[in-house]
Amino acid sequence: MLDARCSILVTCKANQDGYLSDDSQDWKLPPLLRFAKPLDLLRKKQRGKQNGGGWLLFRMAQVVITIDGPAGSGKSTAARLLAKRLGASFLDTGAMYRAVTLAAMEAGVDMNDEKQLMEVLDKRKFGFRSEGDVMPAFIDGKDVTEKIRSPQVTANARYIASRPGLRERLVRMQRDFASNQKIIVTEGRDQGTVAFADADVKFFLTADLKERARRRHIELKEKGISEDINKIEGDIRSRDESDEKRKVGPLKAASDAIVIDTTKLNIEQVVGKLLKIVKQRCLKKG
Ligand code: C5P
Repeated sequence: MLDARCSILVTCKANQDGYLSDDSQDWKLPPLLRFAKPLDLLRKKQRGKQNGGGWLLFRMAQVVITIDGPAGSGKSTAARLLAKRLGASFLDTGAMYRAVTLAAMEAGVDMNDEKQLMEVLDKRKFGFRSEGDVMPAFIDGKDVTEKIRSPQVTANARYIASRPGLRERLVRMQRDFASNQKIIVTEGRDQGTVAFADADVKFFLTADLKERARRRHIELKEKGISEDINKIEGDIRSRDESDEKRKVGPLKAASDAIVIDTTKLNIEQVVGKLLKIVKQRCLKKG
């Protein structure tokens, strides 16, 4: 049974006897929910035997899984793959900081002036969609998914990330986003410590700085961008410092997070570990 933190309602097609059956894939339920048993059968409505059963309305738990960690620790890819395997939604909170950064850069405001940055946040309309394991980002309806990945945006995101007022608003945005999902895998720097401090399962991924720089180097190369690996290492080090030292929502593992060093692991091994732990933690025996 899922460990219920809060309940949501799910409608499912039932078999002829009105109970869950092994062919539950037909219901298009996310895989994690398929393991679950109804916590509380609220309503059973028979629709006649000719279509093989009726509908069950029952309570299911909402599940929040957080993955925090520094740049290049593999958390983004791992979070996407984990979400896919669980049939969960995926939230890339870095994309939110990046979108606000891009909007501020476009407005040409002083990046050190919180009031001006807040005005940008108020004036522009930010949108993030959950599409399986991807999360397209929009500003005033325009798709900026690619644009927010530019090196300039990466370098300037620290100004948005270090402002308490902006962080508060973005954390609210993250909680709103999560409240509409049945199961969510959310990744960032402060997900297990601030945004979802009561999450069901918390992970913190780390890796050696050199290995993280090597991964980023390959990633850029695959995109046709050639950058000196020492420069990449320096940029990551400076981003780590800024993320760890800020007063609000700093990068750190929650006291109840499971810390995984990914230096010597490939992505399949990382996701395998996460998946195993999620199943152990979220599914009670019996
Ligand atoms: O994860 P990503 O590299 O896309 O994040 C961009 C920047 O946004 C990070 O360097 C960090 O400063 C900030 N961020 C944050 N809190 C989060 C997610 C990202 O401060 N939850």
